[in-house]
Amino acid sequence: MITIPKHIQELIPYKAGKPIEELAREKGLTKIVKLASNENPLGPSPKALEAIIKYSADVNRYTNPSAYKLVNAISKKYDQPPQKIITGSGSDSLLQYIVTAFSDDDDEILTSHGTFIGWYVNADKYARKSKLVLLNNYHVDIAGLADNITTKTKIIYLANPNNPTGTMFTKNEFDNFLLKVPKNILVILDEAYTIYAEDNPDYPDGLKYDLENLIVLRTMSKAYGLAGIRIGFAIGPEYLIKALYKVKLPFEPNLLAQEAAIAALDDNDFIIRSKELNKKSLEMMRKKFDELKIKYVPTSANFYLILFQNEEYAEEFNEECLNSGLIVRPLKSFGINNGIRINSGTIEETIFALEVIEKVHLKLLKKYSTVFTINKFKKKHYEASFLRNQR
Ligand SMILES: Cc1ncc(COP(=O)(O)O)c(C=O)c1O
Repeated sequence: MITIPKHIQELIPYKAGKPIEELAREKGLTKIVKLASNENPLGPSPKALEAIIKYSADVNRYTNPSAYKLVNAISKKYDQPPQKIITGSGSDSLLQYIVTAFSDDDDEILTSHGTFIGWYVNADKYARKSKLVLLNNYHVDIAGLADNITTKTKIIYLANPNNPTGTMFTKNEFDNFLLKVPKNILVILDEAYTIYAEDNPDYPDGLKYDLENLIVLRTMSKAYGLAGIRIGFAIGPEYLIKALYKVKLPFEPNLLAQEAAIAALDDNDFIIRSKELNKKSLEMMRKKFDELKIKYVPTSANFYLILFQNEEYAEEFNEECLNSGLIVRPLKSFGINNGIRINSGTIEETIFALEVIEKVHLKLLKKYSTVFTINKFKKKHYEASFLRNQR
């Protein structure tokens, strides 16, 4: 019998949004709408689709390990030298390489409660000690993070906008934070949702910073609609990118992902349409949440975090939505037990989702017959619940 290391035995694996086929199998439903994984409801960029078809006959060949063509396309688009760029099978893969390449057993990793679960999983995989700072009114407490730096801190992970809260920190806040971070601490700025936030003049574009201790991560899983093909990239100083190449699997990302990404990067029209649809869908949701008095956190991304009175209510809400063919994302595994995340959809999907949400919420309100008190969600209660669930 092989002994499995304790930290692997105890590892809670990444829990993704429920797949559509799985729900169809379980419940025998024919109409299912999935708004659980922050995917692009428009599908993939049409230019990417064309490229996938065009290059599918070449998959007998290995890829170029440095993804030469794609790196150059990224270099051109973002005006960054190719030496500062590395690509991977989604930014999640790059997060793993970052933990592998830049942290040792005794190093401490600093991040926020209620941030991207993929980061927690990657840190836990390597048994890294994570120090988590509480969210402040559902915002990453970037000043609080700086205050929690110790001599053991090696990496600070930030997602901006943050998943699953949808909130962002401003350029001013980020600049003040950077002033307090010593240069021997690596800052990971995960900008998975940057395209949805970039029009806000207060949003800090990570690529505008050229620092020896900063790596910016981007994914093509969201606005570019390429989640299933797995493609992401990191931009940072050359000496750090070189180290990442040493630990990266040589033929990742796959050939079709590389070609799809090159084509998608050039598809501005698709990005414009995606952003417009996102705005419309979120606005429809916001109006309905207001009408139903469902508490939500103002978002800078392509999803809303909605909050219920307690974990039990959120769990039941999720189950009832599934029964009606709507897949949303319960957030217990992110540390927000009373939260549900729902991303924007097509107009038709949004109408369906809001009908289900209204029906389920009214049914549960009756069942619980509890008056919804906004005060319940004020900071004190929220912090207490996080402390109870401290990882
Ligand atoms: C903040 C954040 N970072 C990274 C990722 C992972 O993206 P990818 O599909 O590129 O692995 C996600 C996906 O949900 C995310 O929300």
